[in-house]
Amino acid sequence: MLNRGGNAVDAAIAAAFTLAVVDPTHSGLGGGGFALLYDVRSRTTQALDFREMAPAAAGPTMYVRNGKLDPLLATDGALAVGVPGAVAGYFDTLSRAGTLKPAVVIAPAIRAARHGVVVTPMYQHLAARRLDCLRANREAARIFLRPNAAGVADVPPLGTLIAQPQLAATLERLAKEGSRAFYRGKLAQSIASAIQQLGGIVTADDLAGYHVIAREPLRGSYRGHPIATMPPPSAGGLSLLQVLGMVELLQPSGDVYGDPESMHVYVEALRRAFADRANYVGDPDFAHVPVAQLTSSAHLRELLRSFNPARATPVAALLPQAKATQDTFAGEKHTTHLSVIDRWGNAVALTTTINDAFGSCVVAPGTGILLNDQMDDFAAAAWQPNLYGLVMGEANAIAPGKRPVSSMAPTIVFQKEGQARPLLVTGGAGGATIPSSLLQIMIHLIDHGFDLAGAVGHGRLHHQLLPDQLRMEPHAYDPATLKALAAKGHRLEQREPWGDAQAVMEDPRTGLRYGASDPRNEGAVAGQD
Ligand code: DON
Repeated sequence: MLNRGGNAVDAAIAAAFTLAVVDPTHSGLGGGGFALLYDVRSRTTQALDFREMAPAAAGPTMYVRNGKLDPLLATDGALAVGVPGAVAGYFDTLSRAGTLKPAVVIAPAIRAARHGVVVTPMYQHLAARRLDCLRANREAARIFLRPNAAGVADVPPLGTLIAQPQLAATLERLAKEGSRAFYRGKLAQSIASAIQQLGGIVTADDLAGYHVIAREPLRGSYRGHPIATMPPPSAGGLSLLQVLGMVELLQPSGDVYGDPESMHVYVEALRRAFADRANYVGDPDFAHVPVAQLTSSAHLRELLRSFNPARATPVAALLPQAKATQDTFAGEKHTTHLSVIDRWGNAVALTTTINDAFGSCVVAPGTGILLNDQMDDFAAAAWQPNLYGLVMGEANAIAPGKRPVSSMAPTIVFQKEGQARPLLVTGGAGGATIPSSLLQIMIHLIDHGFDLAGAVGHGRLHHQLLPDQLRMEPHAYDPATLKALAAKGHRLEQREPWGDAQAVMEDPRTGLRYGASDPRNEGAVAGQD
């Protein structure tokens, strides 16, 4: 798209539609997400919220059976589906700031759907993890699985070509008729009736009532670099700004690479940000989320009153309501982020997801559309963990028309000098680990002088308050550093690599652009000819 004269928005939306086809495990037309758009000419950043909405018949007891919460209902099958926002979001983004016609931008996705995409190791890994869920939906099994020797739908062999002719036809229709074709008429009917036949509650009216919301981005700064990120219902953006703010307060002269004292500060800041997330964040159209107060230095200072340089603060002191949660870590990588800077300096950070790998595993027959299980991002019961082990309170309770809180945090960091130029455009996958992955990229880049590939690839550490464990990727830090952290009372757990971040940057000194795609997954960097 850039080679054809398009701008960052054209490129981002072409990529988003194509990723819906070539990476059906991560995102798609049946999902939703967020985008930050930076327009260099007007120097303005817009935040677009095309997150799923709870259907009109949704309510706080919809996942309770016989007086008990049944978490599987919020992740597998039709009751898990939120009203999808991706198609409305992509079209809205393109019409606000794109320059190419939808038919041009969608064409590569249509080609890929017709021709088919090859099954990769990651596809196999995720299909194996979601096998029961996929098998339970005939259409999903037909498209995404292949019969094994015993004739049972199973993970397809490596290299299998997955063609999606029905998805191609749906995309062709969208290219001609626009997003209206998804939300009203035949496609909407097919989606609603497929969901209802399987026990879900999304109606044609829910689809007709879906709307994208343009929000004021959340703004902050780190070491003099202005930052724009996603506001609620994203909690990820708020966590980013809170942690950066606390790190700056405690380490005014910069974070020191690999220093256990610095890492302790960072981890303690993360724990406090997750406590605030649990207490305060919800859809701002339903719950009052005091973002200005939560990011104010007075509040951050207050949070840090309990900070002890020698000891990890106990969970009970930070979030007394929370019960211990089990460890649900699954090396999450299934959500799509893409970052673009164009030749003029416009930028797009777009994160889009169907939530868990293959979403709810429900495909609306005849459409090729795989639907999300985003309802799991609500607190189905206050203070009970979801898929990502996250506990949240009343502000994120289920209500009709409400949007579930997200960790997704598309972010643009601007240059210190020449503040009209983006320094870093980033975002990522990984559920609750998204903010910590992005924070480390920023801190490695800004404080530690890493190059972009080094910042994205570096071993990660993550804390989300509950479960009370400091997760480390293998070889992220040396044994002496880990020992020093353990001595402060952090419960260290080594885990397989997680997350999937994408980043592009402009070097302020040379003006050269760099891209880095997370080595933990199958993404890629591309440049204009
Ligand atoms: O919005 C969220 O926070 C989640 N639905 C994102 C899902 C995700 O990143 C999946 N993981 N890798």
